Amino acid sequence: MSHSRTTTYPINQVFLDRWSPRFFLEKEVSDEVLFSLFEASRRASHPFNFQYWRFILARKQEDREKFYSFIAEGNLAWCQKAPVLTLIISEMNNKKEFNKSHSSDTGAAWGYLLLEATKKGLITHPMTGFDFKSARRILNIPEKYTINALVAIGYQDNKEELPKIIQQRENPILRYETKDVLFEGSFGQKIK
Ligand SMILES: Cc1cc2nc3c(=O)[nH]c(=O)nc-3n(C[C@H](O)[C@H](O)[C@H](O)COP(=O)(O)O)c2cc1C
Repeated sequence: MSHSRTTTYPINQVFLDRWSPRFFLEKEVSDEVLFSLFEASRRASHPFNFQYWRFILARKQEDREKFYSFIAEGNLAWCQKAPVLTLIISEMNNKKEFNKSHSSDTGAAWGYLLLEATKKGLITHPMTGFDFKSARRILNIPEKYTINALVAIGYQDNKEELPKIIQQRENPILRYETKDVLFEGSFGQKIK
């Protein structure tokens, strides 16, 4: 394991700059900047022309409050300052068939969104700490869509603005080394 901001092999700076802080500034994100993140997500690869991912945006107060009603308390403590929340869903079934790559394509799509946000000077924080059933009901999400995650988007504030208990969680995250997650030829075969 090593610190997530260090690399063994050189990579694009945006990957090193992206992380998930919990200190959001109460500052609006312009439409121009916000929609550019979703524009980036459109570039994710997908089979044929099946773009399985969908986003539900909450930037108006009334929509954010709907989201607050199903977000877990621990997450609410920091995400209420974020000006934008977006729920990520993907279409699991299409014409009664299982869409094999719905989750991987959708993961790529919101990965691109996060990276574009980093490039634009924004911070993002994904979460699954919310009540999925309530989210489905409150946001009228059809059964054929699965809920993947929710992301808070905004600008960074000072860590000192956070409650002490949350500040303590703002520590560097360790990552597996590349060689620990990469097999060669077949499962379990380490790179030599
Ligand atoms: C799918 C997903 C769900 C997550 N759920 C939560 C959550 O409910 N609450 C939280 O504070 N962080 C959550 N996180 C943030 C992770 O803890 C964080 O991304 C991880 O520690 C890696 O750190 P980094 O994004 O800063 O590199 C989630 C991240 C992902 C990708």
